[in-house]
Amino acid sequence: MTTTPSTPSVGRPLTRLEGEAKVTGLAPYAYEYALTDPLYLGPVLSTVARGRVSAVDTARAEELPGVRAVLTPANAERLADTEDREFAVLQSDEVSFRGQFVAAVVADTPETAREAAGLVDVAYETLAHDVTLTADHPRLYRPEEVNTGVEADTEQGDPDAALARAAVVVDRTYRTPMEHNNPMEPHTTVALWDEGGGRLTLYDSTQGAHPVRHTVAGVFGLDPERVRVVAPYVGGGFGSKGSAHAHNVLAAMAARAVPGRPVKFALTRQQMFSLVGYRTPTIQRLRLGADRDGRLDAVVHDVVEQTSKIKEFAEQSGVCTRMMYAAPHRRTTHRLAPLDAPIPFWMRAPGEAPGMYALESAMDELAHECGVDPVELRLRNEPPVDPSTGEPWSDRALVRCLREGAERFGWHGRDPAPGARREGDWLVGTGVASAMYPHMVNPGSVAEIRYGEDRRYHVGIGAADIGTGALTALTQIAADALGRPLSEVVVSIGDTDLPEASVAGGSSGTTSWGAALVAAARVFRAEHGEAPAPGASARGTAPEDTATPGYSQYSFGAHFVEARVHADTGEIRVPRMLGLFSVGRVVNPRTARSQFLGGMVMGLSMALYEQSVVDPAFGHVVNHDLAQYHVAVHADVSGLEADWLEGEDPHAGPLGSRGVGEIGIVGTAAAVANACHHATGVRVRNLPLTPDLFL
Ligand code: MOS
Repeated sequence: MTTTPSTPSVGRPLTRLEGEAKVTGLAPYAYEYALTDPLYLGPVLSTVARGRVSAVDTARAEELPGVRAVLTPANAERLADTEDREFAVLQSDEVSFRGQFVAAVVADTPETAREAAGLVDVAYETLAHDVTLTADHPRLYRPEEVNTGVEADTEQGDPDAALARAAVVVDRTYRTPMEHNNPMEPHTTVALWDEGGGRLTLYDSTQGAHPVRHTVAGVFGLDPERVRVVAPYVGGGFGSKGSAHAHNVLAAMAARAVPGRPVKFALTRQQMFSLVGYRTPTIQRLRLGADRDGRLDAVVHDVVEQTSKIKEFAEQSGVCTRMMYAAPHRRTTHRLAPLDAPIPFWMRAPGEAPGMYALESAMDELAHECGVDPVELRLRNEPPVDPSTGEPWSDRALVRCLREGAERFGWHGRDPAPGARREGDWLVGTGVASAMYPHMVNPGSVAEIRYGEDRRYHVGIGAADIGTGALTALTQIAADALGRPLSEVVVSIGDTDLPEASVAGGSSGTTSWGAALVAAARVFRAEHGEAPAPGASARGTAPEDTATPGYSQYSFGAHFVEARVHADTGEIRVPRMLGLFSVGRVVNPRTARSQFLGGMVMGLSMALYEQSVVDPAFGHVVNHDLAQYHVAVHADVSGLEADWLEGEDPHAGPLGSRGVGEIGIVGTAAAVANACHHATGVRVRNLPLTPDLFL
């Protein structure tokens, strides 16, 4: 940036530019586009977990007035690419999990579609199924790699020997349950083929228009240019919308069966519990070997998780332990049990969220064993360089987050003895945990800038704003990169007709797309100067090495929690949470703070409530709605404070910023569990922390 206007836009706490359109109902979500003569899709989901569809009787459904088509494995079109079995919708009679698509109805109204779907009579040949994860599952295997493309197992030094000679050993197993993404807006797609059948448009609720285009184009054997995905407004996304799923394919197939008519398909809340991914349950064994002062000599983190038999997803839960603390001897492993279960996928901070729950719980147990303050224990194990790579840290500020967070929270002076503080019927305790999240940057996003007749800079990039404030942040970044006031910049996102952009995932969006905006602004200013003629335009691409190579780049944070556990009922209340984070430069303090708070509330939710209960007899999630799948609500949150260290990361990219979307949920559940232990003396090693476990 050669010049910036006297008042830079980056760093200002702007409200969301699209906020008014959203709250007044003017911003269309995927289901709401006013299309001509839409039809509606009603899916039929398998009622067995494993087997074969032996017969489908569609007669009663077809007789219902208003039914336009019934798709079954027998009549559905053959897809071009069926290798990824998540997308091989209706391509065979095989049933691989309960809740899989086995048929679909297209009808004039959503009510008719739903009724007709209920009239499709599916007969099954049922086979024995296995939907239960156990630590010694007979089919456990080591995946080739885990999510984010890193190795499944690592080993440094001789951890077994180090554990054998350690003065203090913590050897504990922690469990986290299956959890489901529940964005306010369910996964929704509206599919429309053009008259010739050669071009497909999807109005989709997604974290990545271009990624959905590439997947759907591949499945249908189309040039990606022939698939347009439109998603400017999205009602929340926590990872499950980071990829296309089977419903996109089904809607597109259904629309092809009714030429010229758009087909609208919004999954119900219940249907989302089998079709769009979930956080795998985990069984994590942590072994820490330390001296009596709590200095780690060995760390071993062995992870067992589940995946689906038809598609592998390996959550990287042990990866955080590779870099978090100094210890010369360490090992991390991941093993998967392939089950007759739906396909797991991303859910906010996949890997770090469950992994740091286990590691930070074990660290609290070690502090207790050694009689060392839990904050001090972490300071004693601070690694000078990344222990997994030997690289220098770009900006490791964990110590500051812990120290300054402890001051602000009023940590010091606590009686370390569990169960020492009682106020009336409530046992009161405090807990701490570290947070971390890798600085992820996706290369290759492209931005275009065109100077309009209206004397404004029109910036286009196919990025996604899932409710985070990305559009606002990108407008701030573009304004500064162009050296113009905010009022002269209009950014458009969420459409594959705009230049290619990476997924809104891994907390990478602002950095990755922002780098493209900065690159495009540089080109524009070099080519057209500061007084461009209307019509002037330029494009720029985010470079491969947006982040400086050779540095280990992570965001860090510290969570401090006060918990109260009722002495008679075990009810848990969390009156105070403080998260202090280090994320480099903050582009928009208002929306960033909102991300931290949202992550912390989701972490509280993970600690106290979230749990998908699978019925082993039938293989489905029993509590598949928001009445029974509990999430933290306003009444659960009282004193909630999120803040960050000022500064920028000189190696993070042109903005000096790292992601803010996911770190808020990392470590939070451990801080809550540690506070509950401090309050009661009861150490619960599985989530969620239900009241009965404290009695
Ligand atoms: Mo986030 S789970 O990477 O969308």
